[in-house]
Amino acid sequence: MNNPTICRCEDVTLRQLEDCLAAGGTEVSLREVKLQTRAGMGICQGRTCLPLLAALVDSTGRGLPQDAGLVRNQPVRPLVLADLARFASNGGGEATRCSG
Ligand code: FES
Repeated sequence: MNNPTICRCEDVTLRQLEDCLAAGGTEVSLREVKLQTRAGMGICQGRTCLPLLAALVDSTGRGLPQDAGLVRNQPVRPLVLADLARFASNGGGEATRCSG
């Protein structure tokens, strides 16, 4: 496989990431790579690909130290308010149905 997909959620390949890193200046920010390619911004919020992205940035030797504390967002789905109201009216017990 010549060009593996690194971020499956956003369909970002290794070549796209390498091109992004090559276009960077003397310092490379993991956050900037995320913003440029959308890698790490999919439904899993980087749970799968972020370690690979971090390793790629580290391999350049130009990574920024603040990337170590990069915040991950919890994966969430939109919630229909009617489902939330039904959940609350049932006393907050087991959800019986999930929209979406
Ligand atoms: S695999 Fe990259 S965000 Fe899910």
